[in-house]
Amino acid sequence: MIRLDNVSYTYEKGGGVSNVNLSLGDDEYAFLIGPTGSGKTTLLRLIYLDLFPQVGKVEIDKFKSDKIKRRKIPYLRRKIGMVFQDYHLLDDRNLFENIALPLHVIGVEKDEIVERVNDSIEEVGLEGKENHFPMELSGGEQQRACVARALVKDPDIILADEPTGNLDPVTSFELIKLLEEVNREGAAILMASHNYNLIKGRGHRIIEIQNGTVRQS
Ligand SMILES: Nc1ncnc2c1ncn2[C@@H]1O[C@H](COP(=O)(O)OP(=O)(O)OP(=O)(O)O)[C@@H](O)[C@H]1O
Ligand SMILES: [Mg+2]
Repeated sequence: MIRLDNVSYTYEKGGGVSNVNLSLGDDEYAFLIGPTGSGKTTLLRLIYLDLFPQVGKVEIDKFKSDKIKRRKIPYLRRKIGMVFQDYHLLDDRNLFENIALPLHVIGVEKDEIVERVNDSIEEVGLEGKENHFPMELSGGEQQRACVARALVKDPDIILADEPTGNLDPVTSFELIKLLEEVNREGAAILMASHNYNLIKGRGHRIIEIQNGTVRQS
């Protein structure tokens, strides 16, 4: 489903990833582990084609980084639920509206939106906060809102960038388990984290990244 072929990307001032070869199957749940600044966010941005490889190729299903037309990128993004490290919630919309937004974009009917948004809010344990604006949510609540917004699309792939960075150990573990459930229901998951302790011993594939270079076990 996801394939990176000898992918390199270097920012103008240095940093990035180099010569990455990686593939992730339809039903995998893998962790991308590496220290701060190692290239995790960069790698995820390359997968949802927020960045294009300077060398090599990224393939997600039938979408190929060297062939895709700009106007087709939204179709790629429909398949992918993204949990951003810095949330990207809209400050002038409340929790419900933030989570509903991806469904409005793809034209889901109103009753179904209400049902799916409420389900997602419940899945991440934010019932009762529907009317809160992002500024009226704690850091951990904003983070879970971001997870709910990714889940609501019922995506084939979830890319989660440090989604437990602002959660306490119990809530972090709950999120890992929630994503295991989502994975069992058929989504592939790639989750970036620098917290190896959180995920070790659960039988998931671990992809290590250091200084922009990927090592796989
Ligand atoms: N937009 C950018 N412009 C220039 N350099 C960048 C940009 N984003 C990241 N970098 C550089 O690329 C390197 C990798 O950054 P990246 O954000 O991918 O790391 P990361 O593994 O996600 O780190 P963290 O765990 O802190 O989130 C860093 O050295 C960083 O300074
Ligand atoms: Mg990052």
